[in-house]
Amino acid sequence: MSYSNSVLVTGGAGFLGSHLCDRLLTEGREVVCLDNFFTGTRRNVEHMLDNKQFELIRHDVTFPLYIEVERIFNLACPASPVHYQFDPVQTTKTSVHGAINMLGLAKRVRARILQASTSEVYGDPDVHPQTETYWGRVNPIGPRSCYDEGKRCAETLFFDYHRQNQLEIKVVRIFNTYGPRMHPADGRVVSNFVVQALRGEDISIFGDGSQTRSFCYVDDLIEAMCRMMDAPAAFTGPVNIGNPREMTVLELAEKVIRIVGGKSRLVFRPLPQDDPRQRQPDISLAKERLGWEPRVSLEDGLRETVAYFRRSLAG
Ligand SMILES: NC(=O)c1ccc[n+]([C@@H]2O[C@H](COP(=O)([O-])OP(=O)(O)OC[C@H]3O[C@@H](n4cnc5c(N)ncnc54)[C@H](O)[C@@H]3O)[C@@H](O)[C@H]2O)c1
Repeated sequence: MSYSNSVLVTGGAGFLGSHLCDRLLTEGREVVCLDNFFTGTRRNVEHMLDNKQFELIRHDVTFPLYIEVERIFNLACPASPVHYQFDPVQTTKTSVHGAINMLGLAKRVRARILQASTSEVYGDPDVHPQTETYWGRVNPIGPRSCYDEGKRCAETLFFDYHRQNQLEIKVVRIFNTYGPRMHPADGRVVSNFVVQALRGEDISIFGDGSQTRSFCYVDDLIEAMCRMMDAPAAFTGPVNIGNPREMTVLELAEKVIRIVGGKSRLVFRPLPQDDPRQRQPDISLAKERLGWEPRVSLEDGLRETVAYFRRSLAG
């Protein structure tokens, strides 16, 4: 189903949100970008401010909003542990009250709404790779719970609004994504390694580096999100979006050092609590229903990311 125009992107000044706004503008949409600038910045969207199709609103999704739009992408939420653990109560509020407010808005204006959920809903999984039918293994009372349980509750709300109010919903479960405009101090493994390598500092590995991750380049992720938004109404998801190519954290560090050059060494630090050992998406559903799979190689994606951080650290 296609739509004519107006789209609201919450968390639009963040890493993924700003790339999504770019993409929607190239499709000729009118984009309303909403953000409270907790982790997002004006700098991420500065180049769009002169575009007449683009509007930037400072607003916190934990408060209600009324606006006429046809589509809502709900991305507002700090995404990295250092940021979501800074004020855990606000993190839960952002996920839960934010979902209630955005779903309420969607219901009033009959907009289709997509939730940016996360692989963290699977917690520390005992099933590999994770399919959407796996219910997860989540600690409800740990330091990561504000994010994991907040996102799980948001999914519940999406499906209840769908069942109770026939709202058109879409839920994507995003796995580790990286690329230009990541926050340099978000503590995520790719940005950490790239920034440390560019500054010539030692690269810190948590644990022994044998834990595995899979990394999706931002352009691939945005493509999948847009396909999901446009997919037939009956396909609500949840659908996993990510790159199934798994590698150890140690391998990633070595790759980054190779691309950046310099003489950073690897140093090992204690593993944080509830850090998952392994995380890998099963993307069969996305392949089958969205005709999507990642196309950008880790090598190419890392080169773009390194180039971005090189520029932003210099200026
Ligand atoms: N990047 C990833 O690897 C990844 C993985 C899984 C899920 N996600 C989800 O995707 C979404 C975007 O993540 P990101 O990586 O771009 O993170 P980000 O921190 O760069 O973006 C989140 C944006 O939401 C804004 N925000 C936070 N709280 C808000 C509030 N109460 N009201 C309004 N705006 C608020 C922030 O200022 C920021 O611009 C998040 O919902 C995140 O949970 C991301």
